[in-house]
Amino acid sequence: MLKEVNDLDLVNNLSDYKVSFNQFNKVLGFFIDDTIVGFLDYSVIYDRLEVNYIFVKEKYRRQNIAYRLLSYIINNYDYENITLEVNINNIKAINLYKKLDFKIVATRPNYYNGVDGYLMERRVS
Ligand SMILES: CC(C)(COP(=O)(O)OP(=O)(O)OC[C@H]1O[C@@H](n2cnc3c(N)ncnc32)[C@H](O)[C@@H]1OP(=O)(O)O)[C@@H](O)C(=O)NCCC(=O)NCCS
Repeated sequence: MLKEVNDLDLVNNLSDYKVSFNQFNKVLGFFIDDTIVGFLDYSVIYDRLEVNYIFVKEKYRRQNIAYRLLSYIINNYDYENITLEVNINNIKAINLYKKLDFKIVATRPNYYNGVDGYLMERRVS
């Protein structure tokens, strides 16, 4: 079940990535039996969306949870485009984004401490 998360302790105990709120971002959680097993941290910046981070607990991977988290924002906002940066070696995540029609639009040299990142974008079709 998808649910907006306001208590950051819930997500900040799941992975090394730490979320903090600012005026733009929101967190969507994926819950199984009231336990959070994955989340999407994203920003709504006027007519653009940005994916800041997506994470699913190892045991629950490959069950379409990340796909459903991203599909929610794709289907529930009016936006010009959605962008994100991803480590060029993160094949799982790149495949996930490609499956949801994100395209690689630029390479960001050294974006991840010596490793390049891709800028990926999904435009309204
Ligand atoms: C990337 C991540 C969020 C995917 O979560 P998930 O719930 O397992 O993904 P889904 O089950 O929704 O998979 C959807 C698609 O993603 C791709 N994918 C997911 N896991 C993959 C893997 N192990 N190998 C290759 N492709 C993979 C596939 O295209 C998959 O579609 P398919 O099952 O039809 O082949 C998860 O592996 C994770 O939390 N990784 C660590 C955090 C991370 O790297 N986040 C991205 C930061 S930019």
